[in-house]
Amino acid sequence: MDFRHRIAANAATVEAHLNAYIDTYEHQPVVDAMRYAVQGGKRMRAYMVIESAAMFGISMEQSIWPAAAIEAVHAYSLVHDDMPCMDDDDMRRGRPTVHKAWDEATAVLAGDALQTMGFELVLNDQAGSPDVRAELAKTLAKASGAHGMVLGQALDIAAETAETPLTLKQIEHLQNGKTGALIEWSAISGALMARADITPLSTYAKAVGFAFQIADDILDVEGDEAKTGKRLNKDADAGKATFVSLLGLDGAKQRARALVDQAEEAISCYGNKAQNLQDVARFAISREN
Ligand code: IPE
Ligand code: IPE
Ligand code: MG
Ligand code: MG
Ligand code: MG
Repeated sequence: MDFRHRIAANAATVEAHLNAYIDTYEHQPVVDAMRYAVQGGKRMRAYMVIESAAMFGISMEQSIWPAAAIEAVHAYSLVHDDMPCMDDDDMRRGRPTVHKAWDEATAVLAGDALQTMGFELVLNDQAGSPDVRAELAKTLAKASGAHGMVLGQALDIAAETAETPLTLKQIEHLQNGKTGALIEWSAISGALMARADITPLSTYAKAVGFAFQIADDILDVEGDEAKTGKRLNKDADAGKATFVSLLGLDGAKQRARALVDQAEEAISCYGNKAQNLQDVARFAISREN
């Protein structure tokens, strides 16, 4: 199966898993909003979980739990990212954002509940031994919170009103948290489940995370809204600090390509077994959505 078919097949399985899990909650508008928020998306993070697990011989019956978990946490981050107090976006994945389709209170609560649902999923009996599940939950908490994604999001918002433009180092720090942390967790989760060394996957994922966010920032400038399903040309107006704002489009593209080369090199130690993860690194910068 080629990469596009493989990621689409995994995405369908992950979506079915998320829907089935959400169906176990009491029927409420907030639960409808959760179901809505997890629909669609490329499922790149879930793909990284499933493929890094497969590299260590871990079945999808097990890896589907952390794969669904990271997509739930990611969906929560998007619901809150789109709110008026943050990026103020009205479109996501080709549809109205949650606070537009419902209201702000529902969006806050659906995001909160998707975050905790991520931890329910990763702590499910089928996600591994008690030790493995504890490790997955501990590392996911660290990646999601004020050491990781939330830190990056806070720096991203603060940069909008900073008096001087951020330096390259500061932008790297911001993006490492905002986008890098959840992507890194996705890639290392296979090694965590297998109790293997996480170093090669961690180095790989740090580079993929940067490249992925650079591609997101490039798409904001020259993407097609019909393909991305979200409003574009917003970062510059909002005063966002990105690789594109600092290096320009060409510089950012060059940087993204170099990062993908670094990512590929980091997992070359796994040989052919790493092919699906090599493909996803290329996809991070060649995507149109
Ligand atoms: C968008 O992530 C937000 C960023 C971290 C740049 P994705 O581009 O992975 O969004 P979906 O899940 O495919 O919609
Ligand atoms: C969002 O980054 C990152 C997180 C939600 C953690 P962006 O604000 O650049 O993502 P888009 O462009 O809205 O998808
Ligand atoms: Mg944002
Ligand atoms: Mg945004
Ligand atoms: Mg963006």
